[in-house]
Amino acid sequence: MGKKIKVGTLISGGGTNLQAIIDAAHSGGINADIVFTGSDTPGAKGLERAQKAGIHTFVVDYANIIRSCKKGIDDTDLPEDFDFEEIKAKQRLFKTGIPENRVRFFLKSRAMAEKALLDHIREFDMDLLVLAGFMRVLTPYFIDRINTVPGRHRIMNIHPALLPSFPGTDGYGDTFRHGCKIGGCTVHFVDYGEDTGPIIGQKAFEIEDTDTLEDVKRKGLAKEWELYPQCIRKFSDSF
Ligand code: GAR
Repeated sequence: MGKKIKVGTLISGGGTNLQAIIDAAHSGGINADIVFTGSDTPGAKGLERAQKAGIHTFVVDYANIIRSCKKGIDDTDLPEDFDFEEIKAKQRLFKTGIPENRVRFFLKSRAMAEKALLDHIREFDMDLLVLAGFMRVLTPYFIDRINTVPGRHRIMNIHPALLPSFPGTDGYGDTFRHGCKIGGCTVHFVDYGEDTGPIIGQKAFEIEDTDTLEDVKRKGLAKEWELYPQCIRKFSDSF
């Protein structure tokens, strides 16, 4: 077994994946300490799970930040080290042809939120950042400030589909509506695109003709709870 790693976590909702990771850390299934749980959503249920486990929590209220950005972004409010042209050139979230003002608003408003996230995260010594149902896309501004060693990924995400199929916000829904007979989940490192980074692990399950979307989500989540600790273990073993 590799060294004990320090894991930071970000969530948006119920936090069942976070719970699986907390349980794995407690049982010794993964050699990790969870050093914080952050959320973009005040009142996210997963925050309670973290607090119950004695984990430090914080919230960066993305919706509120984005709302106030809609009133206008004063460039002096942006992080000092934010370079719009650099981030725009690196990002692979928007295809060419998307109006410049949309890209500009997105990258600037997210950088404001990401700076607030970084201010919390920098208080901790952390080896790996785990996105456990974190429903916000991260931009190169944030990613570059976590992945400080070139070529070394430090942000993991779980996605509810067998990537590269069905990236985006509704992996199980898209899998179900497409009529797939196999569904699955993927853990991957985060890069500058949406759900495009190197795949660390995947698990699949069968979808019966009689299955509802709820069945697909239930089967998928059960696989996620096995897969995420396995992938964190793989990371710590090679650390
Ligand atoms: C999980 O199904 C996870 O794969 C998905 O959100 C759910 C969170 O559940 N993540 C994404 O869609 C990321 N784009 P949880 O809060 O109970 O762990």
